[in-house]
Amino acid sequence: MRKVALTAAAVAAVAALALSGCSSRAGDTTTSTEGASSGFAADSVIGVALPSKTSENWVLAGGLFEDGLKEAGYKGDVQYAAASGTVADQQGQIQSMVTKGAKVIIIGAADGSQLSTQVEAAHDAGAVVIAYDRLILNTEAVDYYVAYDNFKVGELQGQALLDGMKAAKPEGPYNIELFSGSSDDANSAVFFDGAMSILQPAIDDGTVVVGSGQTDIKQTATAGWKAENAQSRMDSLITSTYSTQTLDGVLSPNDTLARAIITSVKAAGKPIPVVTGQDSEVESVKSIIAGEQYSTINKDTRALVAQAITMVDELQAGGPATTNDDESYDNGVKVVPAFLLDPVIVTKANAAEAYANDPKLSPLTK
Ligand code: BGC
Repeated sequence: MRKVALTAAAVAAVAALALSGCSSRAGDTTTSTEGASSGFAADSVIGVALPSKTSENWVLAGGLFEDGLKEAGYKGDVQYAAASGTVADQQGQIQSMVTKGAKVIIIGAADGSQLSTQVEAAHDAGAVVIAYDRLILNTEAVDYYVAYDNFKVGELQGQALLDGMKAAKPEGPYNIELFSGSSDDANSAVFFDGAMSILQPAIDDGTVVVGSGQTDIKQTATAGWKAENAQSRMDSLITSTYSTQTLDGVLSPNDTLARAIITSVKAAGKPIPVVTGQDSEVESVKSIIAGEQYSTINKDTRALVAQAITMVDELQAGGPATTNDDESYDNGVKVVPAFLLDPVIVTKANAAEAYANDPKLSPLTK
């Protein structure tokens, strides 16, 4: 096992390599010996440390963890990092979960590279650490990872962008712009690499042109996943590159940013390009049905929270937690055993079907 500290981007690149070299990654479920313990009391404290509410999935996750852990008989301690000063806030919350004797600490990292001290303290106190949705980097003290397959999310976004542009205009070349997420989130590079694995061949053969030339993830990043940052970058791109030429598509890593990009384009009086997204946020599902945003990804938060609680139950019973991918997510010092769920692409064409079992989203598709 390599003991080098990698940057988030490097870790993501490693993860992407592992993914591309491995077609059976989400195959059979296996059990790992990582994090095995002799079990713990059925009414133990279970900590859940979530980042700030940068998208609807985080808002939903908090309520679902509260209810689900209570229903399963645990004492759930669910905390969000404040909107500002998120890292210090989350570090303090994890520390306090350790003090309360939490047996499992589930963490949606505010900054995946800033938690090693806290998760190591959790480990020393005997808690199992589960990274939720976002990987925790550069520490041995993360036992499991539970998430939707992030690389696949990116691949689906890249493919949707190509499909949407072809449907709107059968022949290229197509002018696009690329947006990525916050660089302190380990997911951002994985989403981007997944999307670029699909888009790069089209860029190389000239079918797709990144009008601004900004293809480096450092140029495309959106600090803090904040809508206003995506909107102002889109404003600048329109001014610099699209005063005369047409913008056909925008790779947006999530729904919040997709709507900000659309707002910018509309304000400039330009036609709305094909814009991707992720999270199935209510406003974006409405926008897709209205024919504005092109696509989103369904990563049903209910299923992800349920899987995390299943892992807690398995640990409570004394067993290791079930994983289905023990090779893709290298956090810089170890490959973290993961349970990956399958993301689903959603466009106007399949929205009704995709949200059929979701009482909140399904009425929006009627
Ligand atoms: C999550 C996305 C979310 C983004 C911003 C990512 O880590 O995987 O679902 O849109 O954070 O909150």
